[in-house]
Amino acid sequence: MTIVAPTRTCPQRHLLDVAELSRSELERVLDLAAGMRDARATRAHRFMLEAETVALAFYEASTRTRISFELAAKALGATVTDLAVDRSSVGKGESLVDTMRTLERTGVGTVILRHPASGAPSLVARETGLRVVNAGDGAHAHPTQALLDALTLREAFGSLEGRVVAIVGDVAHSRVARSNLHSLATLGARLRVGGPKPWIEGFDAWPGLQVATSLDDAIRDADAIIALRVQTERDAVAGIGSLSDYVDAWRLDEVRVAALAPRAHILHPGPTNEGIELTSELANGPRSLIGRQVENGVPVRMAVLALLHGHG
Ligand code: CP
Repeated sequence: MTIVAPTRTCPQRHLLDVAELSRSELERVLDLAAGMRDARATRAHRFMLEAETVALAFYEASTRTRISFELAAKALGATVTDLAVDRSSVGKGESLVDTMRTLERTGVGTVILRHPASGAPSLVARETGLRVVNAGDGAHAHPTQALLDALTLREAFGSLEGRVVAIVGDVAHSRVARSNLHSLATLGARLRVGGPKPWIEGFDAWPGLQVATSLDDAIRDADAIIALRVQTERDAVAGIGSLSDYVDAWRLDEVRVAALAPRAHILHPGPTNEGIELTSELANGPRSLIGRQVENGVPVRMAVLALLHGHG
């Protein structure tokens, strides 16, 4: 479902899509996030957002994004409230815009919005006075996930320039993939996607993107591999046969990665379907940066909130 076509908005007021950010703007967020990790320990930024009220409005399930935004906003001194959609008047049929206007009238200044409809954050940015941070909308964008992925890769490599990053799996349904394609290309990486044909259709139109129809072709000589979650809640498997067909052809394991991409780091936005996208051995082994991705969630979201409020 699409509410409205996402539109370009002032990146200083909202964060709706990483595609709006230039290379220097991306690097500014990553530099500030790297500094925020230390600042969090020293509490140097604890009054930065003390006059701000931030609302979490998650119309879809989330652990990493929701908790790390809450901790990030609190680390900067903001008052944080949670709409708790399941216990809100959304259940009585209140529309998205009416709900957001209600938050605004109670004193909320910034909303962190996750929604199943692509374009929902753009709609709220247009129809209300709230500052909007997109925490994932439909299959469109997940900008802060892309930023923390970029920070994690930059820590591993120093620079993304010329690095080969393979994004593997359910690309079609993935807002993480779309946001990473924008941000990692802007930062100089060479990108590939690979997956069952119905999940990569149309991606050959992306400029400079390699599209692979086998796992071996997708990961060969990659510096990093981002495995995507199979989105069973969006009925994703219906288009490709069965989950066991997917596992047979596309599951990442240590033997295959060691043979084809011996230097590769492994990332996954989480939550993983253990044993489906990759083996537990690979997810928890020495190549894995999955834990580091989660650790980078709070400082990246601190940096985003700080910059949107004119700090940093
Ligand atoms: N990667 C991600 O968005 O995870 P959550 O759904 O747990 O927030």
